[in-house]
This record gives sequence, C-alpha cells and structure tokens, in this order.
Amino acid sequence: MTRRAGLPARAGLLDRLSHCRLVAVTGKGGVGKTTIAAALARVLAARGRRVLLVEVDPRENLHQLLDVPPSGGAVIRVDARLWLENVQPVRVLEDLVRQKVAVAALARKIVSTSVFRHFAEGAPGMKEMAVLGHAMQVARGEAKPRVDVVVLDAPATGHGMSLLWAPLLVTEVLGKGPLGRLAGEVADMVRDPGQVAVVIGTTAEEMPVQEALELIAGLRERLGRPPELMVVNGLYPPFPKHTGRVAAGARAALALWRQRREVNERELERLASAWRGPRVDLPLLALERGPALVTALGDRLVSALEPAVAP
Ligand SMILES: Nc1ncnc2c1ncn2[C@@H]1O[C@H](COP(=O)(O)OP(=O)(O)OP(=O)(O)O)[C@@H](O)[C@H]1O
Ligand SMILES: [Mg+2]
Repeated sequence: MTRRAGLPARAGLLDRLSHCRLVAVTGKGGVGKTTIAAALARVLAARGRRVLLVEVDPRENLHQLLDVPPSGGAVIRVDARLWLENVQPVRVLEDLVRQKVAVAALARKIVSTSVFRHFAEGAPGMKEMAVLGHAMQVARGEAKPRVDVVVLDAPATGHGMSLLWAPLLVTEVLGKGPLGRLAGEVADMVRDPGQVAVVIGTTAEEMPVQEALELIAGLRERLGRPPELMVVNGLYPPFPKHTGRVAAGARAALALWRQRREVNERELERLASAWRGPRVDLPLLALERGPALVTALGDRLVSALEPAVAP
C-alpha cells in the first residue's frame, strides 16, 4: 500500500465531494483557504465535474492562482470545466431582492433606500446568507453558469463563527418573509451533507487548530453534522535526525525549522485527539502563489484521498 498523508482519509470522499452541490472551504484567516479551494476546484474539474469557484474576498486572489484576469464580479471561464466568480455580498443581496420582489420598480426602490443599505451591511448573517443563497441557486441551475458543483472560498472565521450557520440566524430574525424563506431553504441545504460538504482548512499551529476545533463543535451543535474533511496545510518537512556540519549562517534557519516542525507535531497530535474524521496533510512548498502551487497541492489531495493502489 502506498502511504497516505494525514490518515484516516476516507476512500470515496473525493467522489462524495464531487457529487455535492456546494463544497465550502472555511477556517481561520491566512491558513491557505483560498489555495485549498483552488486546488479542490481543479481536482473536481479534472474528474469531469463542471465547477464554479466562488470567492467573496474583495482582494481577488483566486485569479492569480488560476492565471486568469480578475473577475470584478463577472463569471470568468478558466477552462472547459472551471469558472471563477468574485461576489460582492451586498450586490448579491440586491439581486436576491430583485428576484423575490416581482415588481421591478418596487425592487429598485427597496434596494436604493438607506434602510436596505443599513440592513444589508449590518444585519447579522445577511451577507453570508446572500453568498450561500447565490451558491445554492447556481448549484441548482437557477443562475448561471451551468455547473455541477460550487466550491466556495468562504471568508475567514473568527471564534468559531461561520457563514455556514448565518442562514439559521437570518431565518430566526426574518421569519416568513421572502428573504426569510430563502434563508430557510439555504439553512436546510447546509444541514444536508448530501448537498453541502464542509472542508475546514487549518495550519498545525495553536490558534488555527483552536479555531478549527471550535468550528467542528459549532457545526455539530448548530447544524447537527461534522465537516467532511480537515485539511492541514503548510506543514514544515520533518526535521532530519542528523544535520552534519552546518555553516554558521544556516544555524538560525535550522533552529527555526526544528522549532516550527515541533509546533506542527504538537498541534497535529492535539488535532488528532479531537478529530478522528478524514484529514489530509499538505506540506509547505517552496512555490510562489500561482498555478504551480495549486497543481502541486491538488496532486497531493488526490493521492491522499484516492484509495491507495497496491504496488
Ligand atoms: N502549502 C503551501 N505552500 C506554500 N505556500 C502556501 C501554501 N498554502 C498557502 N500558501 C501561501 O500562503 C499565503 C496565504 O494563503 P491563502 O491566501 O490561500 O490563505 P487564506 O486562508 O485564503 O487567507 P485569507 O484568510 O487572508 O483569505 C499565500 O501567499 C499562498 O500562496
Ligand atoms: Mg483567502
């Protein structure tokens, strides 16, 4: 059997992910969510699925990773089976209001009021619900492009908060109005592991692992389900037992390597004692942000998640 990183990775998991409507990649800021989302989207597209990669970040990083022009809110075709869209939550919310309010003039009036602006910007969970609502509509074929699966590069979490339970919050607040009903549909979708897969990205460092564990607890408590996959990104390579004679200038770098790796190992252990579900470990690679990094990490995801092939 070939060795897999980060056991236990469940055989057939990639198939399950590729048959979900939505794969949401979430986790603490800076752990590599955007890179992981790009790698996963590429992997699913390579398996023959039509994939839309949705980014919510106004900094627009994904186009660099895929080597296409920035989306600027439009849907950009990356290749035969992959598209990219950078969404602005308030614009998406305006679109949803236009769809739900049948009279165009009235819808225009609503979205131009300061009350709406205030509500769209400030109501808890509203923007997040809009992003998920948009992803749901695309995945159901109700909005373009026509794809099989949406991969969502979700905004960074904080303190176990997640956009995934925003729709619950919105249904509680809005009740039975048109947007409340939409939020209810989105909440039902997110609760269903057949439709939505949750991938938590983390690094093997204290705060990201803490947040990943809080996210798992939040998912269990609020949505009654665990995530499908944990991706531990950016691992330092194991420190060699013997380093031999080292030039004076390299000693500090070696000490740093040893120390970061020790932190990684400690945090991997902490994670393993709390999360026994599927996990993939990805190395820190000496590659710039770009397509080569995405391909290299995608290859590793596949070899970790595909059933091992006997030699
Ligand atoms: N495995 C890796 N090896 C090398 N570099 C990596 C790896 N993963 C991510 N990076 C780099 O780390 C930086 C942060 O990654 P990324 O933008 O994907 O994180 P993020 O979680 O999306 O951040 P944010 O929360 O700010 O959106 C990027 O420059 C990316 O190229
Ligand atoms: Mg990002």
